Amino acid sequence: MEGGTGTSLLAVLLLAAGFLLHGGSSSPPPEPVICTRGGGTSNCTVTNTYGSFPDRTICRAANVAYPRTEQELLAAVASAASAKHKVKVATRHSHSLPKLACPGGRDGTIISTVRLNRTVRVDAAARLMTVESGMVLWDLIEATGAAGLSLPHSPYWRGLTIGGLLATGAHGSSLWGKGSAVHEYVVGMRIVTPAPASQGFAVVRELGADHPALDAAMVSLGVLGVVSQVTLAMQPLFKRSVTFVKRGDADLPPQVAAWGRLHEFGDMTWLPQEGQVLYRQDDRVDVSSPGDGLNDLLFFRSSPTRGLVAARAAEERLQENGTDAARCAAVRTDVAAAERQGYGYTNDGVSFTGYPVVGYQHRIQTFGSCIDSPEDGLRSACAWDPRVRGPFFYNSAFSVALSRAPAFVADMQRLRDLDPGAFCAGLDGRVGVLIRYVRASSACLGKADDSVDFDLIYYRSRSAGGKPRAHADVVDEIEQMALRKYGGLPHWGKNRNSAFDGAIARYPKAGEFLRVKEKYDPDGLFSSEWSDQVLGVNGGSPSIVGKRCAIEGLCVCSDDSHCAPEQGTSAGQGRCTQRPGFA
Ligand SMILES: Cc1cc2nc3c(=O)[nH]c(=O)nc-3n(C[C@H](O)[C@H](O)[C@H](O)COP(=O)(O)OP(=O)(O)OC[C@H]3O[C@@H](n4cnc5c(N)ncnc54)[C@H](O)[C@@H]3O)c2cc1C
Ligand SMILES: *[C@@H]1O[C@H](CO)[C@@H](O)[C@H](O)[C@H]1NC(C)=O
Ligand SMILES: *[C@@H]1O[C@H](CO)[C@@H](O)[C@H](O)[C@H]1NC(C)=O
Ligand SMILES: *[C@@H]1O[C@H](CO)[C@@H](O)[C@H](O)[C@H]1NC(C)=O
Repeated sequence: MEGGTGTSLLAVLLLAAGFLLHGGSSSPPPEPVICTRGGGTSNCTVTNTYGSFPDRTICRAANVAYPRTEQELLAAVASAASAKHKVKVATRHSHSLPKLACPGGRDGTIISTVRLNRTVRVDAAARLMTVESGMVLWDLIEATGAAGLSLPHSPYWRGLTIGGLLATGAHGSSLWGKGSAVHEYVVGMRIVTPAPASQGFAVVRELGADHPALDAAMVSLGVLGVVSQVTLAMQPLFKRSVTFVKRGDADLPPQVAAWGRLHEFGDMTWLPQEGQVLYRQDDRVDVSSPGDGLNDLLFFRSSPTRGLVAARAAEERLQENGTDAARCAAVRTDVAAAERQGYGYTNDGVSFTGYPVVGYQHRIQTFGSCIDSPEDGLRSACAWDPRVRGPFFYNSAFSVALSRAPAFVADMQRLRDLDPGAFCAGLDGRVGVLIRYVRASSACLGKADDSVDFDLIYYRSRSAGGKPRAHADVVDEIEQMALRKYGGLPHWGKNRNSAFDGAIARYPKAGEFLRVKEKYDPDGLFSSEWSDQVLGVNGGSPSIVGKRCAIEGLCVCSDDSHCAPEQGTSAGQGRCTQRPGFA
């Protein structure tokens, strides 16, 4: 396990599977909020699940509250509002990459929803379920299954909370019905907002399905107040049948437009350096269909931490001193190993015996068994646990209108054809480009059009002043094409700063959103520097422009000093690389 350049992440994960079968456990991820005084309630820091925001700073807050009931939540908001303190909600693990979980300034209040995690009401006949906003997705969908219901769509990672995933418009993949964004299934919300002294400084607002503010509250970035409870429209329990099919990528542009219409939960993983596409053929089947399959994707299982550290060291060596050929070979080995393992899907909860994998919606719709394993003193962990020097990466995601997605994909293929080897290092070739569908929404900060979402994972250096990533221009160019040439929208909960520059102008209902914000929180207590910048309030920009800013994605490179000109060893390297015809 130790050392050799051959140590791959997949090798670690495959070993992990054996390790866990032999009685090992795992440490759950750490809390994002840490307070050193007042018995853990004051002098606080807040970060995200990676322990690092895009600008690598840690946020500060004066104190934290852990309400257990809506009454306590109301009191917490009233207390902050009466003192005119900035406030922000943090969740169990705060997964959003941008600085969404930070209260404004340095002495605000954090309201954690960790203890607001109960089911409030299940109405099986009406297929409605009401839960508190801090409920973790995995707990929520297990409860739906137990009640004979299914939440039709969800993000893929089960560690998110319902309040957090709604706030950033999170989704799975579907073009059918109302599509894959969870907020499409919200039929009611209770939200606590600041209020005048005459009303006790805070009020609970009940938003029914027809309430005019629901379109703003469904995807709120947390700037309207604290969502207390959410009511979701469920469906009768169903099963899904999943088969992965790998094919050449020559017809990917037309397939991007077609695949989502053929399969209710279809998605695609493009492996650009291989010239291959992994099609997820995924359809609803009757609940009586045989099969008890489980989605336990390899990367999201617990891994022995020593292996994670070794895999990262190998990755750093490849980054700094590897050749494209060596990087591509490493990717190919990992991709082949994952394929043999059915990517971690099992037919019966234990082993993979072949496709199709048929199972209940709540066992197929998400993955992430590393999230709720018992504490084992960090002998094993989720792959990205910040307490371990394991994998460290960026995650960008943006959507392009369905009508423009084939042209965007064709442009990415042209870029790939210029230098396929560059894609083995520029992107994390093992996970490829995840391509998913999201439908147009009435939510003010949801998608304006039926869209295709592109999700990219790529290497991140541990040090801010480090060398630029190998072939950094691959992702930078794809990102700029998607956002600028194709008018794409960045995922609110992912991405680096520069992706959000000017994005709010592409939301037709942004004005409506800001009017509700003005009404619910006129003093902007729930707003922060970051939310003001991305929403275009007060004219700030989410980019941080300065020397070397483009290396970290804090700005778009428009001057060579934004990159690393002194480290350029060949033409283009270390400089801004805007290829005419793409950007
Ligand atoms: C490993 C991983 C996998 C992911 N997979 C997907 C995926 O498949 N699809 C997808 O679309 N996204 C995905 N995401 C992104 C994710 O959906 C968003 O980052 C989401 O916002 C995180 O939810 P959270 O509960 O951790 O919330 P946080 O990140 O803690 O919070 C997000 C925002 O919501 C606010 N907020 C949270 N709860 C409340 C509340 N009760 N009231 C008011 N405001 C609130 C917070 O203040 C913050 O502004 C993934 C992220 C990670 C790290
Ligand atoms: C507040 O917390 C910081 C670390 O986040 C610590 O360095 C500092 O000593 C703490 N201050 C007090 C007064 O406890
Ligand atoms: C709520 O969180 C607690 C603490 O983590 C946990 O023990 C409990 O199972 C959760 N409740 C539900 C309904 O998921
Ligand atoms: C890359 O090679 C240089 C020179 O041999 C060495 O100093 C450096 O540590 C290597 N980097 C990694 C990550 O192994």
